[in-house]
Amino acid sequence: MKDTYILGIESSCDETSASIVKNGREEISTVIATQMDIHKVYGGVVPEIASRNHVENITMVIEETLSKANMKLEDIDAIGVTHGPGLIGSLLIGLQAAKTLSFLYDKPLIPVHHIAGHIYANRLVDEFNFPLIALVISGGHTDLIYMAGDYSFKKIGGTLDDAVGEAYDKVAKIMGLDYPGGPIIDELSKKGEDTYDLPIPLDDDSNNFSFSGIKSAVVNLVHNEKQRGNIIHKENLARSFQERVIHILTKKTMRALKENNISTLLLAGGVSANSALRERFTELCEKENINLLIPPLKYCTDNATMIATAAYYAYQKGITSDLLLNAKATISLEKEGIE
Ligand code: KG4
Ligand code: ZN
Repeated sequence: MKDTYILGIESSCDETSASIVKNGREEISTVIATQMDIHKVYGGVVPEIASRNHVENITMVIEETLSKANMKLEDIDAIGVTHGPGLIGSLLIGLQAAKTLSFLYDKPLIPVHHIAGHIYANRLVDEFNFPLIALVISGGHTDLIYMAGDYSFKKIGGTLDDAVGEAYDKVAKIMGLDYPGGPIIDELSKKGEDTYDLPIPLDDDSNNFSFSGIKSAVVNLVHNEKQRGNIIHKENLARSFQERVIHILTKKTMRALKENNISTLLLAGGVSANSALRERFTELCEKENINLLIPPLKYCTDNATMIATAAYYAYQKGITSDLLLNAKATISLEKEGIE
């Protein structure tokens, strides 16, 4: 069978990335231009600045991806691009580049949902055994997704307010730590103990999550300790926060697997880079005989390799778009899939 090479383009937040993936499982070349240091001073991503940097980076990133692969656009079979969800100004830059190349080189254009990308990052390391459950944990999402087959997504639970990565970043900010806070809290936790009395977030019978309460609890705690002239033990606070978050994520995910009689779990999104979370899920899944897929660290945070990979499976299901494709700040993952 003829090989299929897909050029993926991702620009939904603060990473400009392009990647070429062969047959939906083999990474040929990837380039990621990160703006993390630019946004750090503001304590979060500034949309206007992100868009401007995407404009500066996009051509170079695509050219470098092709040159690293020793390929030309003529060698590419199709172009996959993130069309949402994300920052609208950022998305538009990657999308415009993809549409232009699709038109100029007469290549099919494949719209990819950013979260489908995070899920399919796992396909670069292993086969998918359906049905499975994906726990999507990123800066913008905390979702439990049921997949009956390739490119079929059914949401069975999700956050009612903040996403888990967002909670990590906000808690880090309150503690005076840098952006993004997730990796910093992860590191601090290793040196700390669970000493602070924080609430377990939404510990009920549903598959839903809520992280705004624990975030407010940290705000109040830091505020009160400051007023009393007490010093916050950052390692212990990081550990206490992380323990609650991991407790609820693992508890509800393991229960959802059991209730739906599913034996494959995959983790997806930036927060799946968390070392304690990876360890805890590995232990639990071993105990419960669940086949666990976790993306390697380099595929956890935003990259175009996952977009090119997801695009391959979307393409196989006949998902393509004309040049009227528009970027959307929010889109449902369920509607992107095939029933
Ligand atoms: O998937 P991602 O790169 O972007 C979105 O689609 O949102 O996820 C970024 C999020 C940030 O909130 C960041 O703090 C979090 O992932 N993150 C982590 C870790 N590494 C990244 N959270 C906890 N522990 C980590 N090691
Ligand atoms: Zn992401």
